[in-house]
Amino acid sequence: MRTQALLDVATVESLLAAAVAAPSIHNTQPWRFRLNPDSQVLEVHSAPERTLPLTDPTHRAQYLSVGAAVFNLRLAAVHHGWRPEVKLLPDPHAPGLLAAVRLTGPLGADEQPSDPDLHAAIARRHSSRMPFTGRPVPEPIMAELASAAHAAGARLHVPDIAGTRRLLRLTAAAEARNQVHPARTAETLTWISAPGTDASYGIPITALGPPDAAGRMPVRDFTRALPALRLPALWFERHVQLALLWTSHDRREEWLRAGQALQYVLLRATAHGLRTSLLHQAMEWPDLRAATAPTRHKRCHPQILIRFGYGPDGARTPRAPAW
Ligand SMILES: Cc1cc2nc3c(=O)[nH]c(=O)nc-3n(C[C@H](O)[C@H](O)[C@H](O)COP(=O)(O)O)c2cc1C
Repeated sequence: MRTQALLDVATVESLLAAAVAAPSIHNTQPWRFRLNPDSQVLEVHSAPERTLPLTDPTHRAQYLSVGAAVFNLRLAAVHHGWRPEVKLLPDPHAPGLLAAVRLTGPLGADEQPSDPDLHAAIARRHSSRMPFTGRPVPEPIMAELASAAHAAGARLHVPDIAGTRRLLRLTAAAEARNQVHPARTAETLTWISAPGTDASYGIPITALGPPDAAGRMPVRDFTRALPALRLPALWFERHVQLALLWTSHDRREEWLRAGQALQYVLLRATAHGLRTSLLHQAMEWPDLRAATAPTRHKRCHPQILIRFGYGPDGARTPRAPAW
């Protein structure tokens, strides 16, 4: 008879530290974890008190964030020699239970080992909202990132120059709408923290980026309501390397898959020495979100825009303890 190995506290803490290192909209960290020690199932719940009613009324961005955390959890489990069996939305009677990760193990010698570079990228990845150098991202890397998204259950569309301009225009239109919406700008500002504040959630001012001096890069202006906090404008890269992550359905399960795919792409990019940042504004207005879909794909539900490049690392954002 084979007895089930037991998870120790240090391993659980390491798995959860990896999970919470995931990106989340406005660094809301909209997750909560619970371990059932008998079944060795780590439950991932949504945190209803950390939602964005105006920016994310359907909770789609929250699901993307939780999906990214689930991906890190899986990766860390394999890194520690455990086999993660993931069930998304495992209980129809518990809508707040978004994933259950059963840890069985240890992994057999013939099972796929973890990728150490990818695991190391969990701690190295930060959103970089600074201008990139403009050095082009090699096509084979973009192709590899598209394969990674596909393997994780989503798709990555890498636009040509005209498509890139179109995506930037749509994002700029969304940003302009956000900026004249006082309630949305106020909601966003509540997630920005001043230097020296001991906040565990939200984005410190030091992690924000400057506006683009040329006005081409529609970075999110998190501090619209307090212009005194805005950094002086800088020149961003002329050719922006964007990619659109999309899914062919638009249900809660696909949002969780898209989040996992997002994290897989971000970690692979980080392992290649790329910096990344996210542009989600167009996804927050249904007409603009629909307009970002590449026309050649019939059933395409855009989920998020990713910007890639070489340049300065992003500043760290805080994380609350996982439990
Ligand atoms: C669904 C989603 C949407 C996001 N949208 C934006 C965005 O529009 N602009 C931006 O600068 N960062 C965006 N982010 C990045 C978060 O602000 C960032 O992940 C969070 O502050 C934690 O910082 P880190 O990525 O450096 O760990 C988004 C992240 C997620 C998961």
